Amino acid sequence: MSVTRPAAVMILAAGEGTRMKSSTPKVLHCIGGRSLLHHAIDAAQGLDPERLVVVVRHARDEVAAHAHEAAPDALMADQDDIPGTGRAVWCGLTALDATAMAAAAARGLAREDVISMQATGPIVVTSADVPLVDTQLLETMLADHTAGGRAVTVMTARVDDATGYGRIVHDADGAVARIVEHKDATQDERAITEINAGLYVFDAATLREVLGGLDRDNAQGELYLTDVIAIARAAGKQVGAFVAPDPRAVEGVNDRVQLAAMGAALNRAVLDAWMRSGVTIVDPATTWIDVTVTLEPDSTVLPGTQLHGTTAVATGAVVGPDSTLTDVTIGKDATVIRTHGSSSTIGEGATVGPFSYLRPGTVLGAGGKIGAFVETKNANIGAHSKVPHLSYVGDATIGEHSNIGASTIFVNYDGVNKNHTTVGDHVRIGSDNSLIAPVTIGDGAYTGAGAIIRRDVPSGALGRNSVPQQVIEGWVASHRPGTESAEAAARVKQPGGADARGRSEPISFSQDDAGSERGKQ
Ligand code: UD1
Ligand code: CA
Repeated sequence: MSVTRPAAVMILAAGEGTRMKSSTPKVLHCIGGRSLLHHAIDAAQGLDPERLVVVVRHARDEVAAHAHEAAPDALMADQDDIPGTGRAVWCGLTALDATAMAAAAARGLAREDVISMQATGPIVVTSADVPLVDTQLLETMLADHTAGGRAVTVMTARVDDATGYGRIVHDADGAVARIVEHKDATQDERAITEINAGLYVFDAATLREVLGGLDRDNAQGELYLTDVIAIARAAGKQVGAFVAPDPRAVEGVNDRVQLAAMGAALNRAVLDAWMRSGVTIVDPATTWIDVTVTLEPDSTVLPGTQLHGTTAVATGAVVGPDSTLTDVTIGKDATVIRTHGSSSTIGEGATVGPFSYLRPGTVLGAGGKIGAFVETKNANIGAHSKVPHLSYVGDATIGEHSNIGASTIFVNYDGVNKNHTTVGDHVRIGSDNSLIAPVTIGDGAYTGAGAIIRRDVPSGALGRNSVPQQVIEGWVASHRPGTESAEAAARVKQPGGADARGRSEPISFSQDDAGSERGKQ
């Protein structure tokens, strides 16, 4: 669609949002991984306006800093003490004109030329609390405004429940006459189901002219932007409505019930778009994906999964069920089952979970494994290396094709400093090891089960330090007489040496603790 470039898009974000009952300003509450304000900024920027203006007041610095991060070139316009959406637009327009004129004056232009720097052409006004409004909807409204040759276009919607919204009052010949706010409306007016969506296109000169005519003679004692409609009509301007094709897209967030409803609607739209692009999402009802996440076709998301931030899922990968991942990159054909992870990278064909906890800085190489009840942090685990069970790997580099035995702890913290452990390629760490950092295990080295490794183990060496096992015959009978254990032992050990199962010798245990890592880990 070819659309006129607007002189400005103005986002109203100065209100407190009292109905949220929150210490966080309403416009900074998030759905789909982005603040309401950020959604409004994204939609506005898509129109490529000459200026983007954000009107701020409540929690001014916090809101302005957030807006600036999302749109560094945006102009922050401060609303003064006078309340209402009409005042917000007046402050926004004044700031917009003042900034342009100040720039012209600084260039040494003549007075008339400075004044001519005031905005001309269409100005789009949106609210920071209608998060489902996207660029396409704004574009359609702007095109309709231009095609209709109007000075004012208000977006309206026909809804089932109009409670709280401004109502559109038409005159006898069907033209838009005025807008009446819910609190100011009569019973008859409240029965009107066409509502003001809070989105407008104004001709800049008309807006400048009519804003001065607003007053605070209403239920809320505010300068209502909505009164501009009747004033512009009275001034003989061309005023009209653009009816939103989908009323759900213009629903506002005023309280946390609406925040949740809009969050769910946005999420469903995001999921639908991914499904249409070739992603399998088994259960949309329990899957939450931020607008910033990316998924390649033929990836699969299983029920109970939340994907946040810059999480990216490559083709063939399967994520879930029941996983929460924030800023995690998942390689082709990898699987991530019942996992909580953040700021991590999972290589191609790697497997993670169930019940894994990936903390920031985890990098798992291609074909690698992080298994059940394993926590990792700042850990680079090489291709085809495995940490299959019950381990903590913190501040470590593990080479390729190495195996970390069950229940091994990388002891990274000495109470003061975090220290690093390096494990080479093709290493076999025995079960239940403590690797006390800083320590290095060379390529092809082994460690015994239960080892506490404090010193480096060179390439190809075996590191072990557990005490040889002792077997004290008859200890239970003499030290725990009368217990069920003693009775069980007595039943096995018959007088004369042979036990009840025909074995002639008691079961003996190897004194060699290095043998146990031969078993499959
Ligand atoms: C407003 C409209 C209403 C419409 C509804 C659509 C007015 C008077 N009413 O009502 O007709 O149906 O939106 O969602 O315009 N704001 C400021 N400065 C202020 C007050 C508000 O910048 O002094 C901002 C708020 O931050 C918010 C937006 O304007 O982003 C709308 O304000 P809100 O108080 O939510 O207006 P509604 O009562 O929803
Ligand atoms: Ca609102």
